Amino acid sequence: MSFKEIKNKFSKYSLPTYTRVGPLFVKGKGSWLWDIDGKLYLDLFPGWGVSVLGHSHPKIAKVIGDQAKRLVHLPNNLFFKEQALLSEKISDLSFPSKVFFANSGAEAVESAIKFSRLFGAKKRHEIITMKNSFHGRTFGALSATGQKKYKDPFRPILPGFREASFNDFNDFVKKVTSKTVAVMLELIQGEGGVNIASKTYIKNIRDYCCKRSILFIVDEVQTGMGRTGKLFCYQDYKIIPDIMLLSKGLGAGFPISAMVVKREIADIIKPGMHASTFGGSPLATKVSYEVFNVIKRDKLLQNVKLKGDYLYKRLLELKLKFSFIKDVRVSGLMAGMELKLDSYPVFLKCLEQKLIVNSTQRNVLRIMPALNVTRKELDKGLAILENVFGGLKY
Ligand SMILES: Cc1ncc(COP(=O)(O)O)c(C=O)c1O
Repeated sequence: MSFKEIKNKFSKYSLPTYTRVGPLFVKGKGSWLWDIDGKLYLDLFPGWGVSVLGHSHPKIAKVIGDQAKRLVHLPNNLFFKEQALLSEKISDLSFPSKVFFANSGAEAVESAIKFSRLFGAKKRHEIITMKNSFHGRTFGALSATGQKKYKDPFRPILPGFREASFNDFNDFVKKVTSKTVAVMLELIQGEGGVNIASKTYIKNIRDYCCKRSILFIVDEVQTGMGRTGKLFCYQDYKIIPDIMLLSKGLGAGFPISAMVVKREIADIIKPGMHASTFGGSPLATKVSYEVFNVIKRDKLLQNVKLKGDYLYKRLLELKLKFSFIKDVRVSGLMAGMELKLDSYPVFLKCLEQKLIVNSTQRNVLRIMPALNVTRKELDKGLAILENVFGGLKY
């Protein structure tokens, strides 16, 4: 079947929720993708931050195959060891907690919204979220997202969310009312343009929440699983959240998400109050367990630190060279370059030159490579980026 025929099928049969570009991809390995003509593309944004081990990691491929032969799915009213082991691992590696599994980031966010309602015990229900945040597309997650453009077509949205300015503790305090039950935020806003929360801001919010019994929820769907050089980004802030949300890298490409709740409060949720048919299946949890193993065995957190520092240094050099680069923001292997021009055409030009990066917020280029990216791969990507930048009119 030709590429043209496949494109036609997309336009005829797929709901037009996405703008698709580029060639027809058929294979991936590590940071590389092959198109139908055998051309190689360097992917420095694999799976939108999902494929933390790169494409088709051999250990993940093997564990998927082995587990699929043994046991793929069981409902959550039965016992199976894979989920128990993963819950224990997440708790051991983060904070004493109990875990609920779902399949996507938005579902983890929904779970946290429901948990907050329970915690508020019908007396408090408001959740403070941040301007420019992104928490997903389901109704609760959308209502929590601090961006008009995503919400406007779907109003009226869910009530009970108050938006505060990111990195502004005074504004956060202003938004607290007697009904506030939780605050939910990304420590680094990803889709919002790689905006990094300051340490004092987060410490201030954490302290404030402790004093007033307000839940502190960190959405680590994008920052978790080693992305910023710690296994979980909150560990860089020397605080412990009440709830942490994980997805994307948790399954390194296999769909899984988790709501991780501090043990002291976890048991307020009772059987039947929340559920997910597919959540935490033997296959998904076995794969995720292996993701943690690979991150540890291959010392990927060290790689993130080393390669992240290198990437930061090189992006700063580009900033000195090209006056249209307004700002460079990097934490581990999560990088954003704010441009004084539209970043979408830059993304397209990179794609033409066989480099995959991402454009967000119309003026930010995002780079989030696999955690095992090599220096050679970064150099290659940066050379293409420099070449594209050199050809831009500004
Ligand atoms: C921080 C954050 N939370 C939640 C989501 C929603 O995840 P999903 O698309 O898997 O529902 C995303 C997706 O990009 C995200 O970046």
